[in-house]
Amino acid sequence: MKNRIIIYFTAILLVFTSSLIAQEEKENLFVDSLLNKMTLEEKIGQLVELVTPKSVTKKMLSNGNVSSILGIKDADLANELQQIAVEESRLGIPLLFTNDVIHGYNTTFPIPLAEASSWNPELIEEACRIAAVEAASNGTHLTFAPVVDITRDPRWGRIAEGSGEDVYLGSILAKARVKGFQGNDLKDKSSIGACAKHYVAYGAAEAGKDYNTVDISEITLREIYLPPFKAAVGEGVVSIMSAFNDLNGIPASANYFTLTQILRNEWGFDGFVISDYNSIPELVNHRFAQNKAEAAAKALTAGVDMDIAGNDIKWSVYAPHLDSLITNNIISEDILNESVRRVLRIKYRLGLFENPYVDIEYYKTNMPSFEERQKTALQLAKESIVLLKNQDELLPLKKDLKSITVIGELADNIHHPLGPWNTAPILENVVTPLAGIKNYVSENTEVIYIKGCSVEGIDKSEFGEAIDAAKNSDVVIMIIGETREMSGEAASRSDIGIPGVQLDLVKEITKTGKPVVAVLMNGRPLTIPWLDESVPAILETWFLGDQTGNAVAEVLFGDYNPSGKLPATFPRNVGQIPLYYSHKSTGRPFNEDDKYTAKYLDVDVTPLYSFGYGLSYTQFEYADLRTSKEFYTKDENIDVVLEVTNTGKRNGEEVVQLYITDKFASVTRPVKELKDFQKVFFKAGETKKINFTITPDKLSFYDVYMNKIIEPGEFVISVGGNSHDYITTLFQIIE
Ligand code: GLC
Repeated sequence: MKNRIIIYFTAILLVFTSSLIAQEEKENLFVDSLLNKMTLEEKIGQLVELVTPKSVTKKMLSNGNVSSILGIKDADLANELQQIAVEESRLGIPLLFTNDVIHGYNTTFPIPLAEASSWNPELIEEACRIAAVEAASNGTHLTFAPVVDITRDPRWGRIAEGSGEDVYLGSILAKARVKGFQGNDLKDKSSIGACAKHYVAYGAAEAGKDYNTVDISEITLREIYLPPFKAAVGEGVVSIMSAFNDLNGIPASANYFTLTQILRNEWGFDGFVISDYNSIPELVNHRFAQNKAEAAAKALTAGVDMDIAGNDIKWSVYAPHLDSLITNNIISEDILNESVRRVLRIKYRLGLFENPYVDIEYYKTNMPSFEERQKTALQLAKESIVLLKNQDELLPLKKDLKSITVIGELADNIHHPLGPWNTAPILENVVTPLAGIKNYVSENTEVIYIKGCSVEGIDKSEFGEAIDAAKNSDVVIMIIGETREMSGEAASRSDIGIPGVQLDLVKEITKTGKPVVAVLMNGRPLTIPWLDESVPAILETWFLGDQTGNAVAEVLFGDYNPSGKLPATFPRNVGQIPLYYSHKSTGRPFNEDDKYTAKYLDVDVTPLYSFGYGLSYTQFEYADLRTSKEFYTKDENIDVVLEVTNTGKRNGEEVVQLYITDKFASVTRPVKELKDFQKVFFKAGETKKINFTITPDKLSFYDVYMNKIIEPGEFVISVGGNSHDYITTLFQIIE
């Protein structure tokens, strides 16, 4: 019987493997036979993306001079342009239509940093599925997402677009987003290709200044900045976008080591690499190329396959220069052919040769309902909210309070909840915090709204009106933070405090003695020591998209018990940056009783709020953490179990986080690293056994020779509701 089962499964495996090989052979045959028919001009055309349709002429399309267009958001226009490319060009190679679908297409979800606060990969994947089908129905084939840049510097505005500071969380969410966009079948009408960006280490820009220099060790590159890209490649991402930044002296968009040695030779990535917007001609600004022709040569040779040529083909560097570079034998045509092959391969995998046109009729009956999409947006928004403080359980508020005053420009603005990077948002779908609160409270509750002040500027003329209103209310809800323009691209801030005079207004309102709830709307961790000191309740809501107001109201009034956890550290002041939980020990770890240890004279060394931190309206207790035994070999899984109890009176979800410390190693290791987590629902009073399995790869690290190794020795497991409060146990790895 056993033999028959083995034979049966072997047969299935053989059939499956042979069908994969057959598919690959069929794909290679198609691509190579097409490539062999192409002229040099047509090959170069496949490496050019133009931005916005107005820059594209019919002649360019019929000559095959354009491969891809960024910014088409209309199915009819997409089909019109595609028809020229497919039916009026010599070889009929279809166009690829791209867009930046970062956190939703029509339905706007929370910004990625907010989504990361949910620690819910499945829900994030579901949101990306919705974004994919909305985008596909409007002609998009590929999104320039996910942003998988790790960053430890909240001055950097693009922290808003990624998953924060942690490699493990960032890698898990990179996979979830790629899977959400690409689905199980790239040719499915509800799937679009994904593009992991910005390759690589863009988030390590010195001083948090966007586009700035990056200079890090290879160990740091491999331990921190590369893994989320490797996770995306492992999930089958079809493209990668090369970054703007200089990386250890070689700009990321001309860096053979990262683009070819690592991405292709080590990881086996077979999709295509597209440059970030103008990053190839910017090699001249880096003073790494003397002119655009040299820039083109260096980028193509390093491994950048497609050039985003801006909104005019004259901005392209591949279009005008590759012809002469090839015909003058400065670059081998083999290099060009390999790049063209990769682009054709992905167009083939996306099914563009079989179905180049948007099937408009299909989406009329194959789109999730508006209600379903908004329901996902609301759930993800709720789970993205982080409760930072709740002194004397001020929250949740009663729904039948007599009077509530809501203050702040952000409370009543339909644009800011969308956050940075939107594709085709529908503004009438946006529920502002004020609207959400008004929808939620009883009809007997008076909700007074006073703007009080703008997010920016020094005008305090409306302070008096706000103070008067506050005096006559039971509670004051202050919606404060940043505008949506203060984070995202080219939006670094040297001071990450609350902008303008908003904090002054909070101080005036707290003088009334009325209870104040601060609701933050922002795209990065902010330095809020005064708020933490003086305001009884603080909610971090980031930018939550369409369902902002409903999510904020459900948390404020207790219909949803907040479960969010910070994906990035909140420093006490900007001088502490970079500040992150997985730091090294140093030779003089902080010791408050010893002057000569790693600390400051003027601020505590600890963060205001740690990575992984977030409160609930209930409480959780961790106990009885243990492994199945004490000694393990390098290739054994370590089974871990503990008990977590909801000791409060409310049901709630807890993100149970597992960190590992390698106590001694041949390379200095972080004090701890997140290696697993589970988001678990508990009824009030409920205790659950939580099991983790630590696989050997989670103990490995890069040694000085760049080998990924596991060394014998003692390891500490820390499990808790954040990176600062946990219980521990030990185990040993033996030779
Ligand atoms: C921008 C961004 C990149 C985006 C690209 C195309 O400059 O850096 O994230 O995908 O250009 O819009």
